[in-house]
Amino acid sequence: MKVMDIIIKENAGDFDREAAMYITRQAVKKRDTAFCLATGDTTFNVYSHVVELFRELKVDYSQCKACNLDEYLGIAPSDERSCYFRIMDSILGKANFKQENIFLPRGDCENPEKELTVFSEKINCFGGIDLLVLGIGSNGHIAFNEPGTPFDSSFRIAPLSEKTRKDKADFFGSLDKVPKFGITMGIKDIMMAKEILLLAKGRAKAEIIKRIIHGPMDSDIPASIVRVHPSLTILLDKMAASLLM
Ligand code: GLP
Repeated sequence: MKVMDIIIKENAGDFDREAAMYITRQAVKKRDTAFCLATGDTTFNVYSHVVELFRELKVDYSQCKACNLDEYLGIAPSDERSCYFRIMDSILGKANFKQENIFLPRGDCENPEKELTVFSEKINCFGGIDLLVLGIGSNGHIAFNEPGTPFDSSFRIAPLSEKTRKDKADFFGSLDKVPKFGITMGIKDIMMAKEILLLAKGRAKAEIIKRIIHGPMDSDIPASIVRVHPSLTILLDKMAASLLM
């Protein structure tokens, strides 16, 4: 059994290539891999490299399954800021994933409770998640599980913290445009993935990375739970790892 590997890459470019190789290896190793993929700035270039490798090496994703971790409530799939749009545009619509093997919760769904039920049922149909690619917020949130979320939380509509909303203000144009709620997998659902690849890059993530690796395991830092996952790899660039030594 593999327990918490930490890989530190010299710069953001090496980080992107290493993460892309990791995802590619998984697709080669298990042709019907079920992926759960984080959106966000950290993974954006990673997925471009996955698509490059898909083209160069003819990696086959036609039997792979994929879902997102979360979505902004009220943001439609056609909106470039939605997790739906970003994940389709960066990887799922560019490699040969089949639409029928993809599930992405819709932020504009009429019945969010029903959307959550379908979300959880789809992951069951996938046979669980083989590789979950996880980003982390600067306050330690994972998906939209903000500080204070119980570790046994499951699929739900969750409020975004003020810190997360401020972090996303530039991306949405201004703070008042950032949604107040998200559709999200819970911490328990994330921990049920067979393997987790946690990605963090940049100086803004250094403090939280130090806390999740060396600090107490505490629901005030949701990501601190990943330390007990039986198959975890943490991939960092030098800046995100700068407070570890
Ligand atoms: C968002 C998402 C997370 C994502 C995190 C990090 O709030 N809900 O799924 O992993 O922020 O985003 P970024 O990579 O842009 O820092």
